[in-house]
Amino acid sequence: MPRRRDTVPENWFETVEDRVWLPPDDQGKEEAQLIRRLLKLRRGQRVLDAPCGAGRIAYHIARAGLDVEGLDIRDQFLSRARRRFRKAGLQGRFRIQDLRSFRSAPCFHGIYTWFGSFGYFSEAENVDLIRRFAGALLPGGRLLIEQVNRERILRNFRRKGVVGPIVSYAYWNPTTERAINHRVVDGIRDAANSSSMRLYTPRQLSSLFEAAGLETTEATGYPGGHSLTRGSRRMVIVGRKPRRPVRQSERPEVIP
Ligand SMILES: C[S@@+](CC[C@H](N)C(=O)[O-])C[C@H]1O[C@@H](n2cnc3c(N)ncnc32)[C@H](O)[C@@H]1O
Repeated sequence: MPRRRDTVPENWFETVEDRVWLPPDDQGKEEAQLIRRLLKLRRGQRVLDAPCGAGRIAYHIARAGLDVEGLDIRDQFLSRARRRFRKAGLQGRFRIQDLRSFRSAPCFHGIYTWFGSFGYFSEAENVDLIRRFAGALLPGGRLLIEQVNRERILRNFRRKGVVGPIVSYAYWNPTTERAINHRVVDGIRDAANSSSMRLYTPRQLSSLFEAAGLETTEATGYPGGHSLTRGSRRMVIVGRKPRRPVRQSERPEVIP
């Protein structure tokens, strides 16, 4: 039986207010540099930013001479991204797409999921998304997924946060390994802005990469872009699609 504090609308990511979803458009240069370095991208290569929000990272990736495509579920974010690209005279394609039904032929040199944008869906859907991302990579291409560093979050877990009239209550469910957040504004529960994120350990995430046929090449901390430690604020895992497909019998078991 789910406890009341675990109950968040299943599709909570469809109702979160725009203004609490994204960092400002003018941030992202340093993040884009790290992404380019970890994905080992070269000018002219094809990259997928999913989900791209308003394109704040894609903008810097395109400025570095890469061919970018951005996907997001919110049309208003995509319009902002297109406007920004147009103004700067940059090429880029932005397409509305629910990532739960994303599918693509293998055509990307790199795919990235940045700023806590992974872990929203059910366990099966999260796992399947990695498999579909892997399917969209060219042989030798790389997938990068960034999340908050779960170990640090759990060591410093704050149950309650107050910002003006907004009170947030956070819970960790050790069975589902999800961090659940409820918001109360002026004493009224704000269900539209609740969230439920599956947080992975680096080992769990890299085991999902490997089950999808990718070899894990990096586990990095951010900010800094150096080794991942217990104190790193965020973790970045990168996997590479081998040039020769890994046979089913060679794939390791998924670590639950
Ligand atoms: C925290 S924001 C990060 C956006 C972007 N990666 C960035 O760094 O600015 C999460 C994004 O996920 C998008 N999103 C949420 N659910 C989605 C879904 N099911 N399919 C595609 N995009 C989704 C939101 O619209 C939002 O733009």
